[in-house]
Amino acid sequence: MPFDIARVRAQYPALREGYAHFDGPAGTLVAAGSAEAINEVLRSAVGNKSTAFAAGRRAYGIVEEARSAVADLVGGAATGVVFGQSATALTYLVARTLAGTWRPGDEIVVSRLDHDANVRPWVQVAARAGVIVRWAEVDLGTGVLATEQYRQLVGPATRLVAVTAASNAIGSRPAVAAIAAIAHEAGALTYVDGVHATPHGPTDVAALGADFYVTSAYKWSGPHIAACVADPDRWAQLQPEKLVPSPDAVPDRFEHGTQSFELLAGVTGAVDHLAGLAGPVSLDGASRRSRLLESLAAAQAYEMSLFSVLVEGLAAIDGVELCPAPAQRCPTVAFRVGGQEPVRTAELLGDDGICVFAGDYYAAEYFAAAGLRDSGGAVRAGIYHYTTEEDVARLLDAVKRWR
Ligand SMILES: Cc1ncc(COP(=O)(O)O)c(C=O)c1O
Repeated sequence: MPFDIARVRAQYPALREGYAHFDGPAGTLVAAGSAEAINEVLRSAVGNKSTAFAAGRRAYGIVEEARSAVADLVGGAATGVVFGQSATALTYLVARTLAGTWRPGDEIVVSRLDHDANVRPWVQVAARAGVIVRWAEVDLGTGVLATEQYRQLVGPATRLVAVTAASNAIGSRPAVAAIAAIAHEAGALTYVDGVHATPHGPTDVAALGADFYVTSAYKWSGPHIAACVADPDRWAQLQPEKLVPSPDAVPDRFEHGTQSFELLAGVTGAVDHLAGLAGPVSLDGASRRSRLLESLAAAQAYEMSLFSVLVEGLAAIDGVELCPAPAQRCPTVAFRVGGQEPVRTAELLGDDGICVFAGDYYAAEYFAAAGLRDSGGAVRAGIYHYTTEEDVARLLDAVKRWR
């Protein structure tokens, strides 16, 4: 199905400002449908949750709709969707809660491909619980997190395997389902960081073998809020720290304090936006889940075709060095331009109206292993479904000019 990029871009008011956005891996622009949903809540009578009056009942409705939206997006049950301020905050919450069930001598496995948000919370709670941390290594020549190593890393003492569905640094997509199968064979749980993967294709948490799957709405056209998805029965086995009078039901008991109803409405708005990416007409009558699968597959094909132009173009520029990554990846590339400090490259591109990040973007273990952390990491360019051929040409031209 052809991807109607003009129609898609018209749904991003911020694109009017004229920047070329390659900073999606750090946060995308917000879709109009999401911004309007937030605005609508802020301008309406929405109270705190109460069954006694209409404005209070609206708050319940907003939360339920947002849970259903995220469940449609990633394929879980609405009652297994827990919201939190960020993926980092949710991962700390789950890590602290799970660690309460661990014993000294137990083991966990983390990876050097992951964003620190799916590393440090586990390492820190493991240290307190006397739990041994094992590390999965990235092959720096290929950017692959090899599945086979998990056969050695995982054993009867393993309680948890934390792994990313895609690297926010180099885009590499590990074989999460195969890694999860190894974890499950040993009786371990999996905690999958879906923050970078979710915006770039269809997601099915069951097919991934993710016992927990965390995702942040601001990476997929929504506001700054995150969700962690697990089977409601899994949540029910866990008891987080909580206030005495706050709800004890699942999933509410994992959500601390009053929720951000406006941002939750924005989550639903963002998911509805994603469901419409492939066009409203051909998908008439389909469920939101099936529209999401079709739309995100169409967006992914569009993104990957632009991405190959970007990567080939960068590789052809004298002095540009790409961080290696396999074909199985998201449309995200990390590179350095000759002896230029990555932050300098980002500033020069920034002066040209091109938004890229430079540094380690918290993928600290990867850049340390690659020996690039102390010299400024790398420049990162990510394609999203609103990127155009012209944006890519603009970036390539600017890199050539400033190298
Ligand atoms: C892969 C990945 N995981 C986790 C995070 C942390 O997300 P949050 O900012 O919601 O804590 C990020 C943010 O950049 C990320 O890219």
